[in-house]
Amino acid sequence: MKTSPFLLQFFLSLVLLSGVVKPDPDPLQDYCIADTKTPQTFFMNGVPCINPTLAVSNHFATSALSKPGNTRANPFGYNSTFTNTQNLPGLNTLGLAMSRIDIAANGLVPPHSHPRASEVTTMLKGTTLLAGFVDTSNRLFTQQLRPGDSFVFPKALVHFLFNFDPKNPALLVSGFSSQNPGSQFTSISTFASKPALPDDVLMKAFQISGQDVARIRRNLGG
Ligand SMILES: *[C@@H]1O[C@H](CO)[C@@H](O)[C@H](O)[C@H]1NC(C)=O
Repeated sequence: MKTSPFLLQFFLSLVLLSGVVKPDPDPLQDYCIADTKTPQTFFMNGVPCINPTLAVSNHFATSALSKPGNTRANPFGYNSTFTNTQNLPGLNTLGLAMSRIDIAANGLVPPHSHPRASEVTTMLKGTTLLAGFVDTSNRLFTQQLRPGDSFVFPKALVHFLFNFDPKNPALLVSGFSSQNPGSQFTSISTFASKPALPDDVLMKAFQISGQDVARIRRNLGG
């Protein structure tokens, strides 16, 4: 059978792409409990581990997600708490993490992205929540979620969660395909970076005046 050049190209691109979107590297041992005690003096891709014979069950457990986060700590009305190599040393090298997301009534997790992970979120509590992301061709996908529903945010794409119930808070739990997903909020990284982006850059990028730049900066604590 003769393979068409188109098909060949398609499969080649698929192979190339799957290399680009791969998650964290595979572990070379059962586990690599993060060393949270020794001050780190050399830096590598990941976190050094303790002697595996010193591993105990406790290293694989955490209560980090048991308590609601403070949704008043920012002007948006949400808080997210992640598992990481500090509060759950046993997840080091496993290529995954979790978070709990508390959203106050009318609260918003503003548009942001996780450069190193896809995210699947499940709504546990609340009434009406809008989840959405924008793909690289600028197309918006949104879905109204109810408790029990899940939604997936593809790796690195800008997404948000809006609890448009004016009375009831919402609670979600998310899983991530990296032990260190990273979070970059579009409004914060543009208007509240340290040091600040030049005014001219923001004025041109957003087609706004210098006063607009100053006002948004002030609002976002920039
Ligand atoms: C979540 O709450 C904690 C504890 O009050 C606070 O330190 C943290 O900055 C909050 N996170 C956000 C994103 O506001």
